[in-house]
Amino acid sequence: MQEQAIQWKRGSNTRIPYGLYVDEDVAAQEQARIFHGKVWNYLCLAAEIPDAGSYRTTFAGDTPVVVVRDADDEIYAFENRCAHRGALIALEKSGHAENFQCVYHAWSYNRQGDLVGVAFEKGVKGQGGMPETFCKEEHGPRKLRVAVFCGLVFGSFSEDVPDIEDYLGEEICERIERVLHKPVQVIGRFTQALPNNWKLYMENVKDSYHASLLHMFFTTFELNRLSQKGGVIVDESGGHHVSYSMIDRNARDDSYKAQALRSDNDRYRLKDPSVLAGFEEFDDGITLQILSVFPGFVLQQIQNCLAVRQLLPKGIQRAELNWTYLGYLDDTPEQRKVRLKQSNLVGPAGFISMEDGAVGGFVQRGIAGAKELEAVVEMGGEHAGSSEGRATETSVRGFWKAYRAHMGQEGAA
Ligand code: FES
Ligand SMILES: [Fe+2]
Repeated sequence: MQEQAIQWKRGSNTRIPYGLYVDEDVAAQEQARIFHGKVWNYLCLAAEIPDAGSYRTTFAGDTPVVVVRDADDEIYAFENRCAHRGALIALEKSGHAENFQCVYHAWSYNRQGDLVGVAFEKGVKGQGGMPETFCKEEHGPRKLRVAVFCGLVFGSFSEDVPDIEDYLGEEICERIERVLHKPVQVIGRFTQALPNNWKLYMENVKDSYHASLLHMFFTTFELNRLSQKGGVIVDESGGHHVSYSMIDRNARDDSYKAQALRSDNDRYRLKDPSVLAGFEEFDDGITLQILSVFPGFVLQQIQNCLAVRQLLPKGIQRAELNWTYLGYLDDTPEQRKVRLKQSNLVGPAGFISMEDGAVGGFVQRGIAGAKELEAVVEMGGEHAGSSEGRATETSVRGFWKAYRAHMGQEGAA
C-alpha cells in the first residue's frame, strides 16, 4: 500500500489535518479502504423496493449499485457495471425489472446480478460469436453483501464486515428502532449538492456544538439550546453517533445572550408559528434525534419530521446528499400534513438546516491554502465516547477514530 500522504501530528483526534479534505490520494484511498472496505453502506429503504422486481439505483461511495428484490423476496445488490465494456446496466433511478439488459450490446443479467445472456453468443450463420472458452458464470458485476435492519438496506463489498447488528452496536440499534419501529412510506425526496468534501458534512452532522450557534432558527424558537436536556451517544468504534434533546421552554437561560451569540436574538418572530406545531409521538419526550452510521448515513427525527439522508462523495470538493422524507404507513391525514409542513425546517432551503449546506463550503474555501495546517476539535476534551452534555465535539472525534482505523492511520504520532 502506498505511503499515507497525510500525517497526523498527534496521537489523539483533536487535530485534523486539512489535507484530508483536499488531497486526491486520500480520496482514492477512502474509496478502497472505507467505501469498499469493512463498512455497511446505506443503499435504500426496503419500502422503496416492495415487490419482486422493484429496484433502485444508488451508490456505495463512487461505485454505482443496483438494489433489487427478487421473487424469493430477498434483496440483492450488485455493481451497476456491465461485465462487457462497463456501461451502466440500469439507467433509471428506480423501476421494475424482470431482468436487466445493457443498452450497449444487450448483455443481460438476472435480478441477482448474474450474467445470463450474451447477444449473438454463438455468432450469426456460423460467423463470429464468443469463443467456446467464454463462460458467462465467470463474468459479471461485483456483488455486495446485503443486510436489512429496521427497513434500512445496507450493502458491503467486504466479506469480513461484522453482521449489521454488531456493526451498529446495541445503543445505535435501539435508537434506530425507536424511530423505525413500524412500516414507513416515502413522502418526499430530493438531492442536495454540497460544495465541500463529504467528511465536512459528516462532521457537521455529528457536531452538537454548532447546532444552536449556527442555526438562528433553532435557538431563537427554542427547538434546541445547549441548556436543554439531551446528550450524545458514541458507539464503541466511534463511527456512529446519536445526538438528542428535549424541548424544554423552562431551560431558557441567559448564556447565549451573555456571550452575545448571533443565534440568540429577539428581533425575529414567526408570523405563522404553525410550522412548529407538532404532535407527541414518542413517549420518551425526545423532540430531536440525529443519528449517524459510518460512513455516510443519517437518520433524523426533528419533532415530527422524519428523514434519512445518504451522503455520497462526488470528487474531492463536492458531495451529494440524498434526502428521503418519511411518514408512517398508518399516519392520519393530519399527521401527514404536519410532517410535510415541518419538512420546511430541513433541507437545502430549510429554516434550520440551510446553513449546513453552506458552512461546509465556507470551510472548504477557508482551508484552500492550509493543507499542512490542522483544525482544532477539542471541545469537551480529548475523549470520543458518549457524553451527557452537548457542548462537546466528542462524536466528531469519534468519526476520526473510526476513519483512522479504516484508513490504517492510527499509528501516526
Ligand atoms: S457494455 Fe454492456 S453489453 Fe456491451
Ligand atoms: Fe447543523
